[in-house]
Formats: sequence, C-alpha cells, structure tokens
Amino acid sequence: YNNGSIQLQPFPPLKNDNLLRAARGEVVDRVPVWVMRQAGRYLPEFQELRKLHDFFTVCRTPELACEVTMQPLRRFDLDASIIFSDILVIPQALGLTVEMHAGVGPVLPQPIRTPEDLKRLTPDGALSRLSYVGDAITMMRHKLDGRVPLIGFTGAPWTLMGYMIEGGGSKTMSKAKAWLYDYPEDSKLLLNLLTDVIVDYLEMQVEAGAQMLQIFESSAEHLTKDEFLVWSVPFLRRIRDDLVDRLTKKAVSTVPLTIFAKGAGHSLKEQSELGYDVIGLDWTVDPVEARAAVGPNITLQGNLDPQDMYRDPSELHTLTTDMVHKFGKSRYIANLGHGITPQTPIASMEVLVDAVHKAL
Ligand code: CP3
Repeated sequence: YNNGSIQLQPFPPLKNDNLLRAARGEVVDRVPVWVMRQAGRYLPEFQELRKLHDFFTVCRTPELACEVTMQPLRRFDLDASIIFSDILVIPQALGLTVEMHAGVGPVLPQPIRTPEDLKRLTPDGALSRLSYVGDAITMMRHKLDGRVPLIGFTGAPWTLMGYMIEGGGSKTMSKAKAWLYDYPEDSKLLLNLLTDVIVDYLEMQVEAGAQMLQIFESSAEHLTKDEFLVWSVPFLRRIRDDLVDRLTKKAVSTVPLTIFAKGAGHSLKEQSELGYDVIGLDWTVDPVEARAAVGPNITLQGNLDPQDMYRDPSELHTLTTDMVHKFGKSRYIANLGHGITPQTPIASMEVLVDAVHKAL
C-alpha cells in the first residue's frame, strides 16, 4: 500500500530501535531521546528554508518536509525522527482555511462559531486531501536509511476543536469551552467527526511507514479533571481502539502509540487505562509520582522544562542527569515536557542528548 505514491523498494532495516524497544518495555542499549519540535525555528537552517517557503508549502511538499525532518538528525545524536507537519492539517482537510502568521502562530480566518457552521466541514474525502503526509512519510523512511524510527502524529479531537472554534491559539479557550456548556450534543458531534478523521489519518500514516504515533492533546491544560474525563478521554480511547481494530483487520502490524495530554497530570491513572503504550508528561509532573500512578507496564516520556534549555550547560547537564535517574532506564523515553522554543541555544540540544545517553 502506498497512498498513491510509489514505494518501489522495501524500507531499509532499522539500525537503532531503542525508541521502539523502550515503548514496548524491552531492554535498551541506551535511553532513547528526541525532542518535540526538534525540527523548528531554533535551527538556522530551518529559518533559511522558511524564508523561501510558506509553512504549509513545506508541509505539503514531501522533499521539503523530509529536508526539514532531517535537519536536527544531521546535528544531534537523536534516537527518533518526527515527520514535519502540523496538527492543523486536519482542519484544513475539513475545508477550513489555516494560515501561519509569523510571530502570531496559526490563524483560521473563518472559524466555526455556531453549530450551524458545522455544515461547512467536509469530512468526505478529507483523507485524500491528507495524502501528502503519507507521501512525505514514505519518502522519509527511505531517506532515513534505517538510522532511527520515524514518528507520525496528529492532534487529538479536543485540541483540534479548540483551534477550529477559537480561530487560532487562545490563552483561555473560552469560546471552545462555551461550546461544551452551550452545545454539548453538537460538541460531541464535532469531537466524533474529528475522531473518525483522525483514525483514518493514523491508519494511513502507519501504512505509509510511520513506526510510532503520537497524539497531541496539547489543550488538555484548559480542562478540569472532570472535563478531561468527559471531553477528551472517551475520544482518545476510541482513537486507539478503532485504529488497532482497523490495522488488525487489514493484517497490518500495529505500532506503539503515545498520548501526550499536556496539563493532564491529574489523570495519569486514567490515561494508563486507555491502551496506549506511552504516556507523555509535561514538566509539572514528578517522574517518581508518575511511575507510581501508571504502574510498571506503561512507558513514560518527558519531561524537562523547555525553559531549562536556557540554563548554563553544566546546570542543564545536571538537571537532565537527575531527570533520567528519577525515571530509570526501563520503559523511559527522554524528551522535553513540551516543544523546544525558538530562542533555545543549539548547544543546549547537544548537552541534553549527551547527558541522557551518559546518565545510565
Ligand atoms: O516536532 C516536530 O519537529 C514536528 C513538527 C511539528 C510542528 N507542529 C511544526 C511547527 C509538530 C509535532 C507540531 C504539532 C503542533 N502544532 C501542536 C502540538 C504540539 C504542541 O506544541 O503543543 C500544536 C498545538 C500545533 C499548532 C501550532 N503550529 C502552533 C500553536 C504553532 C505556533 C506556535 C509556534 O510554536 O510557533 C504552530 C507553528 C509551527 N508548527 C511551527 C513549527 C516548526 C513554527 C512556525 C513557523 O515555522 O513559522
């Protein structure tokens, strides 16, 4: 299967599978480390390429998406790559305009305001409008030549709903939260519509060559625990169950799944019962408490404060080493607790990766 592109050769064999072994709870040679947003604006070569190409043009052009995906791997001894894209390609495929404004972030000029607006969404054919992501994944698997695994990703339903209603990022998600109170049935309709597209999209990514998948519920931080359990958890559960079902029926091997629900450290036990292999933690969660909450059969990922990357190298080295010691070598993937920020010194990435690999 190759979503319309041509996968002429089988994929090269994987040389460093520490990420996948950590996700499955197997013994690792070294603690694997990668960084959310590892391809991004802190790299001058990314900034150079972005001067020439619009953000979504990079996403939509497999050669460019692969080039940007490769950039951090040329500099750092990372144990994973993550395909360059954005969570907002799904709202785009559903017919909404999404623009990336420098210094502002994503802007949706015609957001969903009332339940009436749901009629504007075009779930039919959405998957075919996302085929470029599959093409980039397949191309990237060949370009990686088995060096490290390739991670695919998606936004989770509540997080995507938030952007679609707010028309962009928001400090409060007040409009999206008002939907939950004012239009609970329409909110469920929208969340279920997104869940359906997400399952299709993740299935396509696995068939295209993604070796692991991360679901970003970045806006969980705006929900109370009770709200998280009602408006996020059931849809996260269905994504996992439906995806495993689909792949099993097609006799396609499943891949490890990571849930990263930022700000949902209040519900680690509930997250551990969703069938995901890996739980991503933000930096507010204590590693030892997280392990106690999820038990021994889940892999934890995280969770250095991205702001620690601005400390001096010896402090950063010590903080990273302490973090790895708290998590331990088994069932652990080192990462930041959220995306790396644009002003981060490149040297901090070297310190982080080196400290993780030397810690245990
Ligand atoms: O991790 C990687 O290297 C893969 C690429 C990736 C991007 N976005 C590229 C990007 C991934 C995994 C994402 C996910 C994403 N996108 C999330 C979930 C993760 C998180 O940070 O919580 C969210 C909420 C988005 C939506 C989004 N895209 C926002 C809010 C912004 C603006 C904020 C910012 O950091 O600028 C983007 C833009 C974006 N996505 C950039 C990159 C490299 C920078 C924009 C640019 O190049 O002009």
